[in-house]
Amino acid sequence: MFKIKITGTGSYLPEKVLTNFDLEKMMDTTDEWIRTRTGIKERHIIADDEATSDMVAKAAIIAMEDANVSPEDIDLIMVATITPDNAYPSTACWVQKHLGLKTKIPAFDIGAACSGYLYGLIVTAGMIESGMAERVLLCSGETMSRATNWNDRSTCVLFGDGAGATVVEKSDGDSALLSYCWGADGNLGNLLIQPAGGSRMPASQKTVSENLHSVVMEGNEVFKHAVSKMKESAIEALKKANLKGSDVDFYIPHQANMRIIEATIKRAGIPLDKTSTSIDHIANISAATLPISLDEAVRGGKLKRGNILLFSTFGAGFTWGGAVLRW
Ligand code: ACO
Repeated sequence: MFKIKITGTGSYLPEKVLTNFDLEKMMDTTDEWIRTRTGIKERHIIADDEATSDMVAKAAIIAMEDANVSPEDIDLIMVATITPDNAYPSTACWVQKHLGLKTKIPAFDIGAACSGYLYGLIVTAGMIESGMAERVLLCSGETMSRATNWNDRSTCVLFGDGAGATVVEKSDGDSALLSYCWGADGNLGNLLIQPAGGSRMPASQKTVSENLHSVVMEGNEVFKHAVSKMKESAIEALKKANLKGSDVDFYIPHQANMRIIEATIKRAGIPLDKTSTSIDHIANISAATLPISLDEAVRGGKLKRGNILLFSTFGAGFTWGGAVLRW
């Protein structure tokens, strides 16, 4: 058990909303196909003058207000993202700048794709438990719309933009991380990849013209792995905490596909009304789906102190994980 507590949550979704009906006018697709295959109805799209760090900073300000702390009270900033402002500096460093922090605290990004927030939570718990950190601003933001091939209808309809933030600190009460599990399998990395823009395939006119700076995914293969790893992670985390699906007060799965969520809750024995289904209005925002869905659950009164909260996730890498918290 790790004596940590999420003392504040915040989220930011850009003002522009792109519905499935809007997409019908842009490409050969239908609202019916997208809704029945994925559960998505609409997604938010970042403003032209915004980048990932701008959204994260907005979510972070709300989270710090919620936790009743000022930026100077934070001693580490972590941002989970696969759509950073730049290759370097890290998005976390830009967030530190936007927040106007006078203290020169460490700031770094976590790259574990859709599992990034959960990985960050586990790292944060270890750091707080060991005394390496006291109060961490753990955030995630994604600008998936700028890493999407808008000519590929099988991927571009899936993603959205947004950011979520949490303040995580030492718990002096019952709140705790009760259990976690995490894993990765780099052998399957090519099934879900942004091929160009890194050291293996630097940017060139060819990579741009072939749309290789965006998501390339073997959807059906990814789907199979996502279903099994999301289920296994949820069940393993519950087992490690000596709990069953019926003990869960609220479950926040990664929001990639409603059919993946339904298969997971059926197997784990968790009712739909205790499960976050924010995918309908946020779509897949990669690592940011967990903290955004968490903020919505807290503000919507779905999560009360003392409740059992379950997370599970799956993403590129492949990476996956699960965690049980006493809220
Ligand atoms: N509109 C209409 N038709 C479409 C669209 C669209 N937007 N996209 C694909 N189709 C068509 C295909 O061309 C195909 O037509 P065909 O039968 O004539 O060839 C048909 O629909 C079926 O396509 P499938 O790919 O088999 O559809 P499927 O039911 O598998 O759904 C999906 C595709 C939604 C992508 C699914 O595979 C999925 O959710 N995969 C997992 C995604 C995921 O979990 N990603 C992990 C996290 S993402 C991250 O880490 C960044």
